[in-house]
Amino acid sequence: MTFDFSSFSFSNSQLFTDPYPIYHELREREPVHRSTMYGGSWILFSYEHAATLLRDSRLTNNRANLPVLALRPEQRAEFTDFVAFLRTWFAFHEGDSYVLRRAAMDGVFRILTRSLITEVVQDSVDTLLSRWDGRAKMDLVADFARPLPAMVFTRLLGAPESDYAQLDHWADDIAYLFAASDITVEDVRRGWASAQALMSYLETLAAEMVKFPERSLLGTMLARQEPGFSFTVADACAQCVLMMFAGLEPSRHLIGSAILALQQFPDQRELLRENPRLWPAAVEEFLRFDPPVQYIGRLAAESFTYHGHRIEKGQPVLPFVGSANRDPGQFPEPDVLDVRRRPKHLAMGEGLHRCLGAGLVRVQTGIALRSLLDRFPELEVCADPEPVWHSYAGFRGLKSLTVAV
Ligand code: HEM
Repeated sequence: MTFDFSSFSFSNSQLFTDPYPIYHELREREPVHRSTMYGGSWILFSYEHAATLLRDSRLTNNRANLPVLALRPEQRAEFTDFVAFLRTWFAFHEGDSYVLRRAAMDGVFRILTRSLITEVVQDSVDTLLSRWDGRAKMDLVADFARPLPAMVFTRLLGAPESDYAQLDHWADDIAYLFAASDITVEDVRRGWASAQALMSYLETLAAEMVKFPERSLLGTMLARQEPGFSFTVADACAQCVLMMFAGLEPSRHLIGSAILALQQFPDQRELLRENPRLWPAAVEEFLRFDPPVQYIGRLAAESFTYHGHRIEKGQPVLPFVGSANRDPGQFPEPDVLDVRRRPKHLAMGEGLHRCLGAGLVRVQTGIALRSLLDRFPELEVCADPEPVWHSYAGFRGLKSLTVAV
């Protein structure tokens, strides 16, 4: 049976507020599902299928053209330069070229020691929370979860912190192209314009920075002159655009969803209050329970048959992390938040392309949530106005979450 997940999802706001009952039903009915998303793709709903195919070399991550796939061929022609730009992102390279670039990026990330991340995150957290003094109600997203990752990353990049809102805004326009599956020409135009603005900003920053490369991601990339691989200025800036697109939005969503989850499971909040050493494990459970990246995109590099389904070369294959992380075959009582679970989830990916920023996210989220709840132990999510979710399927996260403190 072919189930039209795309048309079902967009006519049903439940997919955005609480997709998990839908995933449970679809996983039972069709763990490997043919959908109309991206003009015809395969969705993997079970943990086993998602984890297995994320490691399968017959799938490629060379998906620079994903944002334009849903456009008509004559519309795509306008975005040749944009797709060429996206192809410079290391994550979309293949084979040895990918391995070389990923190793170089892992090397650059070594400057992000735990103590550096902690210092920068704590400072930004304190700045944001000090603005809460004297106020009874706040929007947790606008007043904390959204600015925090942007402030932190802007500083780690080596840019002035005061530019964070502009960088965040540009990054969002690009992220949208990978989060929604019903992209319009206007969306792509906006995304490309923001990518160009971001590149121009970063190239100016790079020109000022070559002399001061210390303790910043961009400066470290520019200073890196090793046998095998060095970054050109344009290359280094393009990887920064990739990191902002990939990192900012999911990081903010994780904080918002975690606070909502703790409201739904007060016993878990109590456990964390009694035993703060559980915080690192809790962050893993938040990632499993409500993953900000709901599905990962791959393309079939060759035609092959998988569990009786013929997957044709070029077709998108989407391991659905959101569904895999709630698979009862992998996680007992998957709809229960249990901060002692220590789950082997897929929220940060699996295999070669696992998240580059995972270490940063783990430290940042733990400090952010713990500082917030230590400072405002009475914090409660308000029923009115209700939490508002973003309405696209790729990234899952709150647009606003009103809290009283
Ligand atoms: C809660 C926050 C985050 C989540 C849930 C998340 C999730 C993911 C996932 C699922 C992947 C795998 C994609 C794939 O297999 O194609 C990934 C890759 C990646 N992430 Fe993250 N991420 C987060 C934060 C960040 C941050 C803060 C950064 C940057 C500093 C970042 C940079 C990247 C990059 C560059 C890749 C591509 C890695 C590659 O292809 O080798 N992410 N992330």
